[in-house]
Amino acid sequence: MTTNHIITLPQHGSPEIGYLSLFEENNQIPFGIKRIYYTYDVPVGVKRGMHAHKKLQQVIWCPYGSIEIILDDGTTKTSYLLDSPNKALVMIKGYWRDIYWKKEGSVLCIAASDLYTEDDYIRDYDEFIKYAREECWKDED
Ligand code: TYD
Repeated sequence: MTTNHIITLPQHGSPEIGYLSLFEENNQIPFGIKRIYYTYDVPVGVKRGMHAHKKLQQVIWCPYGSIEIILDDGTTKTSYLLDSPNKALVMIKGYWRDIYWKKEGSVLCIAASDLYTEDDYIRDYDEFIKYAREECWKDED
């Protein structure tokens, strides 16, 4: 188990030719990747997310634009800003996330530790608070 944290990705290139950034499973990020998806054409000011995951781990990055992620453990909220293509946020299970689009055209990419299943989502905040208070995450992998 790790904690939520921003990582600075390796960057290859120069101002003349541009840059390439990357991450590898079990290297820059602490889990294997089974799924990649992305969100785009989101109007500025829109809030997405508004859920928590029971088991899923994710790394998210913003190849273009500026996106704020607020992670909530049921007691404390912490804000992370993805405003550079070589920044990524590693997110562990058990945090409610609110995601705000700050700049037109921003793209949010997500690499996830497992395939999609709606059963892994908690979409009701009161249910999340109950789950967090009972520390249900601790009994799971
Ligand atoms: P959701 O994870 O709620 O997106 P966001 O946090 O950006 O608002 O997913 C939005 C919709 O897409 C929801 O109806 C579930 C569906 N979906 C899939 O079918 N497969 C997937 O892999 C993901 C991530 C979402």
